[in-house]
Amino acid sequence: MRLAVLVSGTGSILEAMLGGGLPVDLVGADRPCRGLGVAADAGIETVLVARCEWTMRGTGEDSVIDGHSAADHDSAAGGVSDLGRRRFDREGYSCELAAVLGGRGVDVVAMAGFGTVLDASFFEWGDGRYRGRVLNTHPSLLPAFPGWHAVRDALDAGAAESGCTVHVAIPEVDAGPVLAQRAVPVLAGDDETTLHERIKKAERELYPATIAAFLGEQRAGQERGGRM
Ligand code: GRF
Repeated sequence: MRLAVLVSGTGSILEAMLGGGLPVDLVGADRPCRGLGVAADAGIETVLVARCEWTMRGTGEDSVIDGHSAADHDSAAGGVSDLGRRRFDREGYSCELAAVLGGRGVDVVAMAGFGTVLDASFFEWGDGRYRGRVLNTHPSLLPAFPGWHAVRDALDAGAAESGCTVHVAIPEVDAGPVLAQRAVPVLAGDDETTLHERIKKAERELYPATIAAFLGEQRAGQERGGRM
């Protein structure tokens, strides 16, 4: 059973997975990012399926991308200057990514700071190969504070605690069966950076352990006569 991790950013959660001995077979990204370097340094196969190649000239009505403003996304993606005037072909991108992973024999996908919302076509690709087999970690105690600005939203709401949620991903954003959660306190004087780092510390422990358990269950299912 082959595991892929999807990243878009610093990849500190990926580093924790590798440090903890999780058997990561492939690391994929939607943009050039440090996470790809982390994987390469660890001798793991990497694949870049660049989302900027899946944009089309549009009317501008689709200029908000995955909950980021186009400007947020541009900076995160390394300055694609006119992305805000283009429409992202989410279905095409999702199919392509599924095909790339499927072509490399990936069975289970763990998103770790992956910045692209996957369309239903990802989960349904290859006769539903990835249905129920995509995991995500989110920096809040879902269902509280879904969305890209979960840490900021928790601070703005004056929450006394926040945390992280590991869940099975479905086409709806930050939804799907919860596998594990861990709370952390919001401390006086916290800003987005300090609170997010406290949450990430929890994610670096909880996510690898939850993925390992999930892989174990998948293998047991396979031995009982499942498809993998
Ligand atoms: C994590 O907080 C994850 O929940 C969120 O993005 C962050 C990824 O951190 N979706 P890193 O890139 O692994 O440091």
